[in-house]
Amino acid sequence: VGESDLEAPTGADDFDSVAWCYDWTPIPTHPRRLHPHLQSLKGPIIDLGGGTGKYTTRMLAAEDQHAIIVDPSRKMLAKGYAKGRRASYIQAMGQRLPFGDESITAAISTEAFHHLGQDQDLVLKEVSRVLREDGAFFIEEPDPSRFIGRIMAWGEKVQGMNSVFWTPSQLAKLLEQHFEKVVTTRTGWFTYLAIARVPRPHSR
Ligand SMILES: C[S@@+](CC[C@H](N)C(=O)[O-])C[C@H]1O[C@@H](n2cnc3c(N)ncnc32)[C@H](O)[C@@H]1O
Repeated sequence: VGESDLEAPTGADDFDSVAWCYDWTPIPTHPRRLHPHLQSLKGPIIDLGGGTGKYTTRMLAAEDQHAIIVDPSRKMLAKGYAKGRRASYIQAMGQRLPFGDESITAAISTEAFHHLGQDQDLVLKEVSRVLREDGAFFIEEPDPSRFIGRIMAWGEKVQGMNSVFWTPSQLAKLLEQHFEKVVTTRTGWFTYLAIARVPRPHSR
């Protein structure tokens, strides 16, 4: 992205209007918790709903790692692009990823999965399509069974967003339909990380 005039895809929660101030908002994300999982990975890593890339490069463990930020909001992406971090920026939705089958090493998504709303299952199918054998999807989310997680879920509902939040065990069940070896672990007092591995052999 940059100066291009791409239309914002319809159907996504609108982040264009908050892109100007997004990087100042406190987002409950723990990028370093991903380091042990990402450090030995080689090949492309996508940050699904990566927005302004606020956390993307902090999640990468090794200097030579590169992330591709995929997000429907042109303004969020443009903010990130202007910062010039070591990432690429692609305007697309998780529902239709512009990558070939088994072409991506890992996918990460922080504080974005709930914004996929009713299409979460479709996106999981799409992520599992593009991931290589042995690839993994790392999702950090707020837990709606925790007080602050519940407030977040309520706040997004009153703003008319499409958000769908899950507890760690509920998200694990959803992930198990497309991945195997799903584990969830707490990252903060109301956030958790779910790690879902691509089954071997890869079955789409
Ligand atoms: C709360 S922000 C999180 C941004 C970033 N991951 C972070 O942790 O700061 C949610 C992001 O999800 C993106 N998003 C919404 N719908 C999406 C979709 N269908 N596919 C991919 N990203 C989407 C939004 O544009 C927004 O940038």
